[in-house]
Amino acid sequence: MIEKTISREFIKRWGNFYGRNITGRILRELGKSDPRILAPNTLYTSKRQLQENLENQGFRFATESPFNSLILDFEPYNIVATTEYLSGLFTIQSLTSLIPSKSLNPSHGSVVADLAASPGIKTCLLAELMKNTGTIYAIEKAKKRIPALKANLARMGIYNTVILNGDARSFPDLNIEVDHILLDAPCTGTGLKLRKNKRLERRVLNDVNRHAQTQREMLEEAWKQLKNHGTIVYSTCSLEPEEGEVQINNFLARHEGQIQVLPIGFKTGIPGNITRWDETLDSQIRNTRRIFPDQGMDGFFIALMEKVRA
Ligand SMILES: C[S@@+](CC[C@H](N)C(=O)[O-])C[C@H]1O[C@@H](n2cnc3c(N)ncnc32)[C@H](O)[C@@H]1O
Repeated sequence: MIEKTISREFIKRWGNFYGRNITGRILRELGKSDPRILAPNTLYTSKRQLQENLENQGFRFATESPFNSLILDFEPYNIVATTEYLSGLFTIQSLTSLIPSKSLNPSHGSVVADLAASPGIKTCLLAELMKNTGTIYAIEKAKKRIPALKANLARMGIYNTVILNGDARSFPDLNIEVDHILLDAPCTGTGLKLRKNKRLERRVLNDVNRHAQTQREMLEEAWKQLKNHGTIVYSTCSLEPEEGEVQINNFLARHEGQIQVLPIGFKTGIPGNITRWDETLDSQIRNTRRIFPDQGMDGFFIALMEKVRA
């Protein structure tokens, strides 16, 4: 019974925030396993070419797949043992992981900060979208997570990225102004499928507040380094509004008139919720997206914002 794995506190909160139907669906989906999702490395191959090469070796894929991905249906052996994987022709991740970088869509030659970077799945996609031009500062606080970031960037043939091991809240000390920021923030991860998230059993509400505080500080420091008319994507794989809609609502309130929340170019999920909490949130929150766990998807929140006035 999945309900036994997840703290009752969370189930009760989701019931209040999203209603009984959606909560039932969340509980069913969190317990399921996802298919493996491949994102072709468009610097070195195309989806069609990659699919053809892998199908020739016996791999099979779903007929439909969003975000230029390939959804694996059958693997004759572990796909990470293929030359295609080892030579960096694709990454493996959840479908939701593809949305933040594609929503930020950094221009070629731009300066980008990825403030919570490891293991670098989204950094790689940013670099692909930039065609390996410009500069990405990939910042990661945990020293033990740097090797995975280095390995992914090297395997994927990315050479426009500088890795910085440090706290993103100190990024303003470097005095670098950036055109785009990705803040895929550290969070409680309550939207992650349980197979990937053994920690959910041990999560308590204090974790939500602790993470919300860190996210708030990271957003504030990021804001200082963003150029006028620059854009920032804030995302978390959490179902908790303090790490999603409420976090962005408070950010907007602290920077009144300075931020425009832009619509996300994907129809996945539903508009951020502005009415079901005690307070009514800023109407701009409707442009954010709330994604519930589903096939190939983790529970997720994403906001794309432009600095319209410094
Ligand atoms: C959600 S994960 C990022 C996943 C990554 N964006 C990807 O797609 O591969 C959050 C990361 O932020 C790092 N982190 C936590 N606090 C940080 C801070 N203050 N500054 C920089 N990185 C931090 C964590 O160690 C973790 O690796």
